[in-house]
Amino acid sequence: MKKITTLQEKSFCFAPSQYSPRLLDVRLDEKIVTEFLKAMAIYPVQALEYKSFLRFRAGQILNDLCEQKLKQAIQDCLSDRQTGALLVHPQGINKAEQADDMVKIATAFVHLVGRSNFDSMSGQFYARWAVVNTDNSDSYLRKPHKPLELHNDGTYVDEVTDYVLMYKIDEQNMVGGNSTLLHLDDWEDLKHFFNHPLAKRAMKWQSPPSKNVPKTIFHPVFETDSSGNPVMLYIDQFVQPKDYEEGIYLADMGDSLENSRAKLSFPVPIGSFLLINNLFWLHGRDKFEPHPQLRRELMRQRGYFNFTSNPFKPGARG
Ligand SMILES: [Fe+2]
Repeated sequence: MKKITTLQEKSFCFAPSQYSPRLLDVRLDEKIVTEFLKAMAIYPVQALEYKSFLRFRAGQILNDLCEQKLKQAIQDCLSDRQTGALLVHPQGINKAEQADDMVKIATAFVHLVGRSNFDSMSGQFYARWAVVNTDNSDSYLRKPHKPLELHNDGTYVDEVTDYVLMYKIDEQNMVGGNSTLLHLDDWEDLKHFFNHPLAKRAMKWQSPPSKNVPKTIFHPVFETDSSGNPVMLYIDQFVQPKDYEEGIYLADMGDSLENSRAKLSFPVPIGSFLLINNLFWLHGRDKFEPHPQLRRELMRQRGYFNFTSNPFKPGARG
């Protein structure tokens, strides 16, 4: 596996972001984006929903336009423990009316390295949702004035969730609401929580009704990858500690994560997306200021890696 820090190609560029050398900024040339969308015009988003193999065709079209170099670059970055996170800026796509184009670009990116899981919240391989000023939902996902604390995705489903993609489709009247990220190896208290007797104990995870996942599952907060590095599968809202001991361990961990000095906080511009390795990066978002016309629209895809050098092969995590 090649380590990527800076990679300048004709059609795209990877470079360390201003927020952290672990988070790479990716610029996809506007000409390539235009050519890609032109070639994809015969495949509306509905076709990608109905025929899953077309999601891989989208990836192929984009990789061909990038002289077959993009696939390897994404794979190298996402599987490298030193980086593992991309902030992607497809040039020329930054209006909410272009949401379908954003779905196509996101789909192409992730289907070069894996496959997106079925998203029970939307009934599709991706989910799009809006955050507005008032909300009556049953989790913090759409609650504008509450932060979404650092967590991993895929904690309450029985599916491997190696990556998470989060696309900013639209944002109006927003003050605050930065995306937050924390790389496990930068967390000051990782050793303490990873070496704790409760770190490997299977705990109970259960989501609220809006997630449409009625099952309860059990797994520990920490596991290790094939090189013995800690990987994490944790979310504050959906873990159900069975006793005082587990409750305090988790409450202390939540405090420690939120107070970590290594937590990154930065805005994701409209039309850009984050693509992270979900096993050694935690993600969240800061709270926003209330505003009557506040609106934010997001899209996500989550799934598993399928490249052969993947150190997180399905099943490797128990
Ligand atoms: Fe999440």
